[in-house]
Amino acid sequence: MSWGIEGLYGQPHLHFAAVDSTNEVAKRLLMRAPEGPGATVTADYQWAGRGRGSRRWHSARGMGLWLSCSFLLGGCHPGHLALVAGAAVAECLRRRGVPAAVKWPNDVLVNGKKLAGVLGEVIRPGGKQWVVLGIGVNLNQVRDDFPAELWGRATSLKMETGRWWDPHQLAGQLLRHLEQWLLRARREPGEALRWWKGLCPWWGQTIRAHTPLGALTGRAVDVDAEGRLVVDTGSGMVALSSGEVSIGYPCDEVGDWR
Ligand code: BTN
Repeated sequence: MSWGIEGLYGQPHLHFAAVDSTNEVAKRLLMRAPEGPGATVTADYQWAGRGRGSRRWHSARGMGLWLSCSFLLGGCHPGHLALVAGAAVAECLRRRGVPAAVKWPNDVLVNGKKLAGVLGEVIRPGGKQWVVLGIGVNLNQVRDDFPAELWGRATSLKMETGRWWDPHQLAGQLLRHLEQWLLRARREPGEALRWWKGLCPWWGQTIRAHTPLGALTGRAVDVDAEGRLVVDTGSGMVALSSGEVSIGYPCDEVGDWR
C-alpha cells in the first residue's frame, strides 16, 4: 500500500498496516537488496516498536507517525545522525506553529514532554555503511492512550494543539526537512551542529545524565564536533557520547524520559 508520498531522496516508499518494527522491515529490505537504493517504510501499527537502549516504543494503530528510512552514510558523521533527524522533526513542527525543541541526543520535546524520538542504526550489508533511521512522532494520542508511567512525561501533537494530525501529510513534509538536514550535515557539519544547538533551549541548565559508565550532574554547555554533549561538572568538562539526560535536576530527577 502507498500513501502517495515520495520516500527519502526519491526512494520507494512502502506503507504497511502492521509490522514488528519499521526499522526491522527497512533492515530486512536492505539485506535482500544491499546494492540499494534503500527505502522509506511507514506503518499504522508496530507490535514490537523499539526505542533506544532496547526499550519498547508504544506504537498504537493510527496514533502516530512510525517511519524508518535507509540510506548510505555517505560522509555524514554517525554521531550527528540522531541530532540531525531530531532537528528535522523539530523544524518541521515549528513551521507548523508547534514550539518543538530538541534534547540531546535524540528527543523532540514540546512544553517539556517527549513528543518524538529517533533510533539510528548503522549496518553493513554488501560491505557498505547503510543507515537505518527510525523516527517515531506521537500524533493523535490522548493521555490515557499512553501507559500510566508516561503520563506527564509523554505528549502528542493532539494533546498540544487540540486537533487531529494526518500522518501521511506530516510524513511527506518531514522527509523533505530530513533531506535538507542530511545534506547540511554532510556538506557543513559544523553549521548543522550550530543549527541543532539553536533548537535546544537548555544551554547552561543543570542536567542529570545517566551514561553506561554511571550518572553525573552538571551544566550542559555545548555539543562538540563528534556530536557529544559537553557537560561542566564543576570539577571538569565531560563529553558524553551516549546516555539519557534529564533537565532541571534536582527538581525533576527522571532518568528516562520515555
Ligand atoms: C527513542 O526515543 O527511544 C527512539 C524511538 C524511536 C521510535 C521509532 S518508531 C519508527 C521506528 N521503528 C521502531 O521500532 N522504532 C523507531
